[in-house]
Amino acid sequence: MDEQLIKTVNKLQDAFSTVGVHNPVDLPQIVVVGSQSSGKSSVLENIVGRDFLPRGSGIVTRRPLILQLINRTPKDEPKKEQNGDFKGEENPNEWGEFLHLPGKKFYNFNEIREEIVNDTEAKTGKNLGISPIPINLRIFSPNVLTLTLVDLPGLTKVPVGDQPKDIERQIREMLMKYISKPNSIILSVTAANTDLANSDGLKLAREVDPDGLRTIGVLTKVDLMDRGTDVIDILAGRVIPLRLGYVPVVNRGQKDIETKKSISSALDNEKRFFENHASYQSKAQYCGTPFLARKLNMILMHHIKATLPEIKAKISNALTKYENELHQLGEPIGDGSGDVSNMILSIIPEFCNDFSLVIEGKSNDLPA
Ligand code: GDP
Ligand code: NA
Ligand code: MG
Repeated sequence: MDEQLIKTVNKLQDAFSTVGVHNPVDLPQIVVVGSQSSGKSSVLENIVGRDFLPRGSGIVTRRPLILQLINRTPKDEPKKEQNGDFKGEENPNEWGEFLHLPGKKFYNFNEIREEIVNDTEAKTGKNLGISPIPINLRIFSPNVLTLTLVDLPGLTKVPVGDQPKDIERQIREMLMKYISKPNSIILSVTAANTDLANSDGLKLAREVDPDGLRTIGVLTKVDLMDRGTDVIDILAGRVIPLRLGYVPVVNRGQKDIETKKSISSALDNEKRFFENHASYQSKAQYCGTPFLARKLNMILMHHIKATLPEIKAKISNALTKYENELHQLGEPIGDGSGDVSNMILSIIPEFCNDFSLVIEGKSNDLPA
């Protein structure tokens, strides 16, 4: 039931982006914010458990990436592809699909990264500029929890290369657009070896969520803290309390990226780090990426359920509006290809149907 609910929300998200209309519904999603190189993309990769994001020092993420993770058990589709020789880490049950390349399945996650880089450059040029046009990527895998995450460029102060002078303002505006939606959950990333009080991610989050009701803190680079220091005070809510709390993680360092350390060994390493560290061993089950992923999935689910009545009302209003437009258009003409109103008219009712089934079919599970 819960998984079905998130899948339906994902379909709606696609339906609205495909037809390029203003999305009447602020669908819940988890938005990642923080300073440049604080480790945002690394956190997302660890959650997915695969290497597929461009990462590194400097401004690497230059367009929003809307990442829909879809948990899919192999029995959903038992037959292998026709020419199914899967090489190395490729796996017939795990692939990515871009909204801008419909029908193409990427089994090779390096190719996913290349496509993100190519499409980023296609829309922003190579001069380190940014663009608010999102890249939509879905990842189907038995190893992910169903979640929608948005990776965003990091906050930066000083323009580099031939970046525009107002790059800081441009990035800020882009981030604000995503996190100011009351339905977004803010994943605020701060490197543990920097001062939390100066965290750009937390400052920005506080502007739109002053009571910290929809902000979750992630502390990266815990492995790089000075000996004898730890994040215990932060976790205990004694520094900057957040209702949803903080989760400390250890991602791969720059060197691990260069030596192509695998994510699974990085996750093992993270687990060992927390279990063996004097400060964290008694609370190791609340540390690290797997705990973060479970926590996000739960928060997202609660959030969707709490906002369902409102989402449902908005969809039903949108549906009425489009149906009225349909009547004004008269009889359908031609094959409707390229006609935005025809497209949305065929897509939206289908998803509304789906959505109603999910909501009404199991309404006893849900808040009234
Ligand atoms: P973003 O700009 O916020 O998306 O940050 P990236 O994920 O691209 O990471 C920036 C750099 O920090 C990369 O070189 C990462 O390898 C490194 N990094 C990120 N998280 C950690 C961590 O937990 N520990 C260590 N040692 N390095 C990290
Ligand atoms: Na970076
Ligand atoms: Mg990044």
